[in-house]
Amino acid sequence: MPSSLIKKGAEAELLLTDWYGLPAVVKRRVPKPYRRADFDRALRRYRTIREASLLLAARRAGVSVPALYCVDVVGSSITMEYVPGPTVKDLLVKGMGVEEVMKATGRSIGKLHLKGLVHGDLTTSNMIWSAGKVFLMDFGLGEFERSLEAMGVDLHLMLRSLESIIPLKARSLFKQVVEGYREVMGSQTSAVVERVKLIRFRGRYVEARKLSSRK
Ligand SMILES: Nc1ncnc2c1ncn2[C@@H]1O[C@H](COP(=O)(O)OP(=O)(O)O)[C@@H](O)[C@H]1O
Ligand SMILES: [Mg+2]
Repeated sequence: MPSSLIKKGAEAELLLTDWYGLPAVVKRRVPKPYRRADFDRALRRYRTIREASLLLAARRAGVSVPALYCVDVVGSSITMEYVPGPTVKDLLVKGMGVEEVMKATGRSIGKLHLKGLVHGDLTTSNMIWSAGKVFLMDFGLGEFERSLEAMGVDLHLMLRSLESIIPLKARSLFKQVVEGYREVMGSQTSAVVERVKLIRFRGRYVEARKLSSRK
């Protein structure tokens, strides 16, 4: 089967292909001419390894993620299962099945955090709704990290992502995410949510200072 391009992003190009008869996606991190060549190569390899490690760790944590088929460190590419379905962003824009999807998203994030993993880029385009489950992908910025700050930053990005799509409903959607998250993280949830508020406050403070320094 000839490969067809799904997406050409800033970091990577994604091709739909065939892996021994299974529909698959190749994610290849492409060279960036504006970075020094040796640094560029090292960074692409590092992010490729990180993405593959986190995909495996997330799967072990019980989170739905694309199955990893192959890692080519030198070529900076990973081959993974093709997950059919709309992104969570697409669903939110159409207002479809939102409550169930938000709770499932929260549970998946909770499972990651419970095992000491943070995703690093929790935007709704990095989530696909398939066979009644939320699949998380794009772990290239993820970390093995247990700090309250890292978990707070992760959830805060989710909130920002909701606000950028449907600002008026973001708060209630985020509440549903937190409900799902609480099902997994239990009593640790309040501390993480408090940290999200603090991060938000810090952001506003920085914005306000920027504005006042422009006067
Ligand atoms: N395994 C996959 N199955 C189906 N679609 C995928 C898969 N991986 C990525 N995609 C789609 O391609 C888009 C870009 O992939 P992603 O890994 O997020 O790359 P980028 O780092 O450029 O954001 C995702 O938003 C998703 O819609
Ligand atoms: Mg992405």
